[in-house]
Amino acid sequence: MIKVAPSILSANFAAMGEAVQKLKSQGADWVHFDVMDGNFVPNITFGPDMCKAIRPLTDLPIDVHLMVEHPSDWIVPFQKAGADILTIHVESSERHLHRALQAIHAAGMKAGVVLNPATSIHACTHVLPECDLVLLMSVNPGFGGQSFIPETLRKIRELRSEINSRGLSTLIEIDGGVNPETAALCRDAGADILVAGSAVFKALDPAEAIKAIRG
Ligand code: DX5
Ligand code: ZN
Repeated sequence: MIKVAPSILSANFAAMGEAVQKLKSQGADWVHFDVMDGNFVPNITFGPDMCKAIRPLTDLPIDVHLMVEHPSDWIVPFQKAGADILTIHVESSERHLHRALQAIHAAGMKAGVVLNPATSIHACTHVLPECDLVLLMSVNPGFGGQSFIPETLRKIRELRSEINSRGLSTLIEIDGGVNPETAALCRDAGADILVAGSAVFKALDPAEAIKAIRG
């Protein structure tokens, strides 16, 4: 069963509470929460205080995607803010990925790594047993509304085969440029979770958009 995780980066920030409250009835599975520090990526979004503010408004899992340097510094703040899933970039300044993943688990959250479009899946193969999920970026991180990079499909297939051949249960999440058309390609290639920002929040009918992305 494919999961859809709308990215609230594309929601109306002036009506964030309302947007989050509606997501469950619109058919969302997870709330995707994009944290940017203006350093790892050329944009700044929001942090643990926003997570804490939306936590009481939904019982959907909050899926925190850390696009920051020193991601380990944010494990405890996000755990305290009620996050359920924390993913960190392999390209970030975290040198001890394995230990960081263990620290996320020790804090009671699901853990995963994120790979930029230019990063090979081999950057995560040795930590796969520590990953509940791997997030493959299908755009360069920093902004919503970009076009899906087709090469991602080959990465999904490679990672799917690596996970299956090792009998692991790691989930594959895709983030960036996902719309009903690119979602179908990702599902066929073996993705489990599809993040969608613009395709959900800029749609006339977000519930219909979520349904079309799930397929
Ligand atoms: C990009 C973020 C994405 C983004 C997706 O850096 O990680 O989650 O919000 O937005 P769309 O779906 O518009 O590409
Ligand atoms: Zn994201």
